Amino acid sequence: ETVAWDPEDAEKSGYDHYMLKEIHEQPKALRQCLRGRIDDLDGTVDLEDLADLDHEGPIQFVACGTSYHAALFGAERLQRAGVRAQAFLASEYASDRVPVDDETLVVGVTQSGETADTLRALREAARAGATTLAVTNTVASSAARECDHALYIRAGPEIGVAATKTFASQQLALALLAFTLSDGPTREELEALRDIPGQVRTVLETTEARAVAEEYVDADAYFFIGRGYHYPVALEGALKMKEITYRHAEGFAAGELKHGPLALVTEDTPVFAVVTGDDETARKTIGNVKEVEARDAPVVAITDGESDVTRYADHVLEIPAVSDLGGSVLANVQLQLVAYWVANLLGRSIDKPRNLAKSVTVE
Ligand code: G6P
Repeated sequence: ETVAWDPEDAEKSGYDHYMLKEIHEQPKALRQCLRGRIDDLDGTVDLEDLADLDHEGPIQFVACGTSYHAALFGAERLQRAGVRAQAFLASEYASDRVPVDDETLVVGVTQSGETADTLRALREAARAGATTLAVTNTVASSAARECDHALYIRAGPEIGVAATKTFASQQLALALLAFTLSDGPTREELEALRDIPGQVRTVLETTEARAVAEEYVDADAYFFIGRGYHYPVALEGALKMKEITYRHAEGFAAGELKHGPLALVTEDTPVFAVVTGDDETARKTIGNVKEVEARDAPVVAITDGESDVTRYADHVLEIPAVSDLGGSVLANVQLQLVAYWVANLLGRSIDKPRNLAKSVTVE
């Protein structure tokens, strides 16, 4: 008698799903993304791929899905460094409505490098005279070949339809890009970048995400809130939940909650709040947390414990205390795990969710 051997299972290296395997590959993916790109002696970021990119003007990001959330993160990083930057949904990008010319750098963020909407936006921008850059995981993809420049995120192959490690790698690659397109990093910022892979490992050792999933597997809906760098994380947390659990989930800018979504909040709708540090941003989000707590919604705080948000939370998903930039990478890992475990408990087809494709090559 022979033992049935499934090559797919072997490739999952003991994990039940590619998604969980890829979530756990994030420390490695992030180290690969950084490798050779930080010059310790000079204290600079050195992106060899972009050696001949010399850009001063405004920057526009175009992307879809998870990559759009990374683009929002990248745009904010540049804005905070004083650079004019904006993120667009590729499917909504139109060069006759957006000011784009030969002064503009248009950055397509696309894991596969084959997403039709993103390729179309990049082509349109190129026709308007813009310089184009592909931030991609796929060497020799259409985006990499067609753009003037390519920056590889080096996450390694991602099989699960729901993007996980590629999102973390996009966040890190875009942080590196932002440093090369603005002032270089401070010593502390460089250290902070270098610490992220190890901190992701620490987050992966925590077990609370599974307990939270068990507690709320029957919720009516899941809401996610965050401000600043944590706003794209709220959007991404909700997208992961939708994609693999088929449950209703929405991400909101924390400040927008009171402008409508609060009407949806009940004791059966857990609200996941991303709060790091103890600054003005954190305090404002905590104000929003109090609003949902007053409506008896369960609150799950994803936090480094620096603020008093835990006082208003029913559950805490802990992350190490780091800069808010790094914190959004770490918080997102906790939300990936929650979505994974809810989907797992529901018996969903996690690696191949219904109706979705890894790469969408039609507009
Ligand atoms: C599809 C995938 C998403 C992905 C999006 C953009 O919809 O299911 O996970 O975020 O395409 O993909 P890209 O390859 O351009 O990053």
